[in-house]
Amino acid sequence: MIDDSLLTPALQGVHLSRSFGEGETKTTVLYDVSIELFSGQITLLMGPSGSGKSTLLAILSGLLHPDSGTVMALGHDLWAMSDLERERFRLRHCGFIFQGYNLFNALTARQQLEMVLRWGEGASAGEARRRAEEMLDLLGLAKKAHLRPTELSGGEKQRVAIGRALIKEPNFCFADEPTSALDWKAGQQVIELLRSAAHDRGATVLVVAHDARIIEHVDRVVHMEDGRLWQQEEHEAREPVLHTLKQAR
Ligand SMILES: Nc1ncnc2c1ncn2[C@@H]1O[C@H](COP(=O)(O)OP(=O)(O)O)[C@@H](O)[C@H]1O
Ligand SMILES: [Mg+2]
Repeated sequence: MIDDSLLTPALQGVHLSRSFGEGETKTTVLYDVSIELFSGQITLLMGPSGSGKSTLLAILSGLLHPDSGTVMALGHDLWAMSDLERERFRLRHCGFIFQGYNLFNALTARQQLEMVLRWGEGASAGEARRRAEEMLDLLGLAKKAHLRPTELSGGEKQRVAIGRALIKEPNFCFADEPTSALDWKAGQQVIELLRSAAHDRGATVLVVAHDARIIEHVDRVVHMEDGRLWQQEEHEAREPVLHTLKQAR
């Protein structure tokens, strides 16, 4: 028997619309967009600059209110929650990665990760350190744990940011142009890490990126243009999910 969770989208955006501005300056950025994301899959959202990708990602991840439409996440209506409930949901279930890394300059790589566990989960110092070191090891950064952002390359900084997003083992991982500031080799590493978050941990991963070379590294590609999704390939990549679940048993 197939697990229900494979057939039910982990995240479902339905009839989402969004405009900015008022009156004559009002611009519609999203037109009636519907999208489904599944656990264990990495989905790539592509499209020209200004097509509405970041707006859609922000709405799906509970950061920006849609004008109309709903987002169902793990069976909860995200935009029917109170601000506090949504904030808690994001903290508990969502990891974010952005182009600009958003790291704290004063903290070492290890401290950036420890902080999430200490403040987010109330983990003990020893537990936080152990898990941070484990994650840095997985990211290939074991030897850089003591370095601060200014002492790390762009690719290394982005790997720390990925570690910070994934260390709480979120159900959802949202990455907005995580590779744009990186060369292809570093970008490829970043995509591989996000892909293994989906395939090995069953996370639901949405990545916005430009580089067409990424396409072959993801399960599914969704194209956006002028606020509309114009192609949504069927979720053909179910195998990694089944594979993961089999391993987990
Ligand atoms: N807060 C905002 N206020 C006004 N316009 C915005 C705002 N955020 C985005 N936009 C506009 O919405 C359009 C889509 O933006 P965005 O979603 O960032 O596109 P993308 O990520 O595909 O480049 C752009 O024309 C942008 O200028
Ligand atoms: Mg954008």
